[in-house]
Amino acid sequence: MDTVNLKVNAKINLSLNINSFAGNGYHCLDTVMVSVNIADTIVVSRRRDKEINVRMLDSGGNVVQIENKYNSAYKAAGALISGFNLSGVDIVITKRIPFAAGMGGSSADAAGVIAAIAKLYNVDIKSSSAYIIAFKSGSDVPFMLDGGFAHVTGRGEKVENFSLSHTLHMVVAKGKSGCSTKASYEKFDALGNWRRGNSLAMIKAVKAGDPDAVAELLNNDLQTPSILICPEIQTTLNTLQTTNPLNCIMSGSGSACFGLYRTAAEAEFAANAIKDKLEFVSACVTEPRSIVYL
Ligand code: C5P
Repeated sequence: MDTVNLKVNAKINLSLNINSFAGNGYHCLDTVMVSVNIADTIVVSRRRDKEINVRMLDSGGNVVQIENKYNSAYKAAGALISGFNLSGVDIVITKRIPFAAGMGGSSADAAGVIAAIAKLYNVDIKSSSAYIIAFKSGSDVPFMLDGGFAHVTGRGEKVENFSLSHTLHMVVAKGKSGCSTKASYEKFDALGNWRRGNSLAMIKAVKAGDPDAVAELLNNDLQTPSILICPEIQTTLNTLQTTNPLNCIMSGSGSACFGLYRTAAEAEFAANAIKDKLEFVSACVTEPRSIVYL
């Protein structure tokens, strides 16, 4: 096998509790993540030499310039290739997951590249050294290796997966501006509004496939700090509210938000009603896994 083709789904956070400092500027979380069907596609091909080339394209096929030192896909490939003494790869990533959205886009790319290289070179991605490389590539990468529906704790490295037996229907929406994850956590620290919640009730509601209970339990400790950094998030939430969702909230550190609906038809109707008002609007559903080989 010389080439691996796959797609990696984005994630949203149904609950995000920040419970303590983890050191090095990081925080310990208690969060529920679910994969949703907004995906980047990744093609990874073997090279004979040790070089790593990454080409990023937007959904229209235009090149997106990201310096290698800021590109999680490049860094993950480099760490795996040097850690396991593999030869190099050519990587082409087509982005559909919005940037700086709180949907795990850069972790999705890192996880997809790790999974593809592991398949090309027969590396066990669940081995401890590969898992450490994955985690160092981004806090959401451990979740992204499997995805679906999981309770994620620690800094993001403790992932308890559950099977997703019921689909949730939603609309993901985002304005023009992105939100820096680091800046959002720093604002959270400055505000000091610790709530120290847990996700047990949310896990129960998702397992039961009860959208009304899920909607009532939606919570994100980063929403207030992110709105202070990026007030457009409040506009996005207000726009989602006009579609009468069961509830709506920001995902991750933002700036993407999502509304929950009981049916696919309601979500489609809502997305159509606001699609011209925001930069990115998409009706979507939860997915049972993040990485899908094509
Ligand atoms: O690991 P990642 O690069 O995705 O994290 C980006 C930033 O988000 C970190 O530099 C840190 O400021 C913040 N973060 C955090 N606690 C986490 C995850 C991320 O404080 N558990």
